[in-house]
Amino acid sequence: MVTGHVFIATSLDGFIAKPDGDIEWLISRDDPNEDHGYNDFIKTIDGIIMGRRTFEKALTFDSWFYTVPVIVLSKTLSESDVPEHLRNKVQVSNLSPRNLMSQLEKGGWKRVYIDGGQTIQSFLRENLITDLVITTVPVLIGEGLRLFGSLTDDISLILTKTRAFPSGLVQSEYKVCK
Ligand SMILES: NC(=O)c1ccc[n+]([C@@H]2O[C@H](COP(=O)([O-])OP(=O)(O)OC[C@H]3O[C@@H](n4cnc5c(N)ncnc54)[C@H](OP(=O)(O)O)[C@@H]3O)[C@@H](O)[C@H]2O)c1
Repeated sequence: MVTGHVFIATSLDGFIAKPDGDIEWLISRDDPNEDHGYNDFIKTIDGIIMGRRTFEKALTFDSWFYTVPVIVLSKTLSESDVPEHLRNKVQVSNLSPRNLMSQLEKGGWKRVYIDGGQTIQSFLRENLITDLVITTVPVLIGEGLRLFGSLTDDISLILTKTRAFPSGLVQSEYKVCK
């Protein structure tokens, strides 16, 4: 079965971006000499499912950041909204999380990185996330876009690892109880 995996950073008060999508508070705390495990994580991943808003943010970076295929979940974008130079790297899908995961499984994908707050929330609600690596940045930003949202039932997690970095970042890994 194909599995969903989260690797994301939040402010100490639980936000992944400011209300306007700004993540400068995160980028400015990144220490290039400190290995937070992203490169090892991405090597285990067949591709990424990201929400439309995360995709739009990624398009503002100087260059395309992702080294694996990306599927953008959106009901408002179509393939023609993907810039020409990314057409062999990015696809748009309006399938439901479960149907998209089934399609990817048929295509031979095994491990999918799920990214974007609303997107992670919807995959969690459908029980499509196996584990989460959450890096907490020691900053309070007051308001913004939440990593987690409303649920109809509690989701229990098992803490499998925690490490603290000299920069003050704390990274915790959780398995989702099924
Ligand atoms: N801190 C970090 O590590 C980190 C990581 C990733 C992203 N971010 C930031 O987070 C922000 C974006 O997160 P976000 O929570 O606002 O949105 P998001 O999850 O990136 O995108 C949400 C959009 O995805 C589309 N979508 C389609 N199907 C969906 C589904 N089943 N569930 C959820 N969304 C679906 C919808 O777009 P349509 O309206 O087009 O249908 C929805 O508006 C950006 O600013 C990004 O930079 C931060």
